[in-house]
Amino acid sequence: MASYFGTHVDDAIKLADACRRSRLLRRGPRGRLLPTRRGRRYLETAVEEYYLERGLVEGAGSPAFRNLCRARQGLDMVQHGSLTRGQLEAIIRRTRALGPGRILDLGCGTGELGERVAAHAGGARLLAVDRAHSAISYAAARGTPNTAFVGADLETYVSAAPRGSADVVLSIDSLYWVDDLESFLEHVLEVLSPGGCFLCILSEFEDRRGGGRTLAAEDMEIGAALAALAEVRGDLRVETEDFTGEERALWLGSLALWEEWKDSFAAEGHAYLLRNIVREAEYLETSMRRGRGARYLFSVYRGVEAPMSER
Ligand SMILES: C[S@@+](CC[C@H](N)C(=O)[O-])C[C@H]1O[C@@H](n2cnc3c(N)ncnc32)[C@H](O)[C@@H]1O
Repeated sequence: MASYFGTHVDDAIKLADACRRSRLLRRGPRGRLLPTRRGRRYLETAVEEYYLERGLVEGAGSPAFRNLCRARQGLDMVQHGSLTRGQLEAIIRRTRALGPGRILDLGCGTGELGERVAAHAGGARLLAVDRAHSAISYAAARGTPNTAFVGADLETYVSAAPRGSADVVLSIDSLYWVDDLESFLEHVLEVLSPGGCFLCILSEFEDRRGGGRTLAAEDMEIGAALAALAEVRGDLRVETEDFTGEERALWLGSLALWEEWKDSFAAEGHAYLLRNIVREAEYLETSMRRGRGARYLFSVYRGVEAPMSER
């Protein structure tokens, strides 16, 4: 398989060309290739190569990657998304306020983030799911009490998980590959106990309406899906926190990382981990410069359903 995030530039170019042929990438200004949308098909290869095979676990064991997380995001929890310290604190604050007994982390990676949230929530039980079995084994080997790691596809998992079995469901940068977002969200809401909360943080980089303005939360694919669900259900309250400014600064700053960090990554044999970040920053540069991107924390509270007559 061609290696998009691997060390072979030729393979990466071949894969980019294949994506463009299948209209998953388009040529942007100055010939730059841009994803047409952050959909599952476009990122599938990245997931297979980077997340399933080695990126997650090697990132966790890489001092350079951990130092970079600390320097770039103010937080070393082996983030493979763009979570910052302030964003994690917002998630912890909301989780702690609910005093949950059971937390479900969907797309947990190597699991340190979920463990940190659970530890701050008075030692809630954590069940964490990721389809990268290597990351799950790595996380389980820590043997953290009250914690279980499951290797599974998150869409499949929530469709079969016991109803009302989690007080908080977390998703940190893990919904970019979901096939059917609406159905996934419906299942998540069923898995939540009444009074529970789905905390989901993610970014979106293309304004599908083509304008040059910053995306509002409801313009994001997930924001629109949640608004539609809230209309038909009487028991949802959605709150959003805007982290777009932080996200833009993070990615624009990341363009310059290569020169500064390449030697420490190369010395470990992990240059591809850094290359992954810099390449993603290159893809996002245009949309970020033009304000065509957004990052929000969506907090979706499931209350008790109001009777139809009161809606
Ligand atoms: C960008 S990483 C984020 C990991 C972690 N939450 C963090 O913020 O560092 C995305 C994670 O979602 C997982 N993932 C993506 N699609 C998935 C799916 N359909 N089922 C389960 N895990 C999935 C990947 O394996 C990866 O660990």
